[in-house]
Amino acid sequence: MTLDLFGNHTTDDIANPHADTLGPGASVLRGFARSRLAVLQADIDAVIAQAPLRHWLTPGGKRMSVAMTNCGEVGWISDRMGYRYGTHDPLSKQPWPAMPASFVALAREASEAVGYRNFAPDACLINRYTLDARLTLHQDRDERELGAPIVSVSLGLPATFLWGGLQRGDRTRRVRLEPGDVVVWGGPSRLVYHGIASVEGSFDAQAVRYNLTFRQAR
Ligand code: SIN
Ligand code: FE2
Repeated sequence: MTLDLFGNHTTDDIANPHADTLGPGASVLRGFARSRLAVLQADIDAVIAQAPLRHWLTPGGKRMSVAMTNCGEVGWISDRMGYRYGTHDPLSKQPWPAMPASFVALAREASEAVGYRNFAPDACLINRYTLDARLTLHQDRDERELGAPIVSVSLGLPATFLWGGLQRGDRTRRVRLEPGDVVVWGGPSRLVYHGIASVEGSFDAQAVRYNLTFRQAR
């Protein structure tokens, strides 16, 4: 993280009227992925066909309400042994599926739009939220490379994203995320607490929300 980055970020935000600033080095790029949603969804479906969604157990033994899988060189895993990244899917014992080209291009373009250069994610966590799923306030801090940003892409049902501060108890802002919105956070905001308070939709629609989270984990 550098002051440079901070400077680039503000400049890019002024240049991009569709970016909402969340904090230093953190923006919501409204609709950034909207034109690519069909391709992204097809690629998500292909990853899930190889590495099915599953509900990880937290280290405390609670089943997470969000269903998850991964693609990329490493994937995020949670079980009784803790949170970590691993090269293989513990269910299939196979390497995680490769990151689709559509994912790599989007992560790179979105990070550049916020002023981050050379973002090279090696991990993409795929989250699937049904209407009853939540993700409690947390930091993304299992990655070795905290100098790289997080790029987070929304598809499907809208959601209320919580954006807090560097302490768990800090005030949170509620940010509505629509399909195609991309949130990028890094630099001074890299370890900000965040979560998903709710997913909006009607119970009969059987629709879900997907989120792709790109990280440079190793
Ligand atoms: C996450 O924090 O890993 C996901 C956030 C989201 O679903 O938007
Ligand atoms: Fe997160």
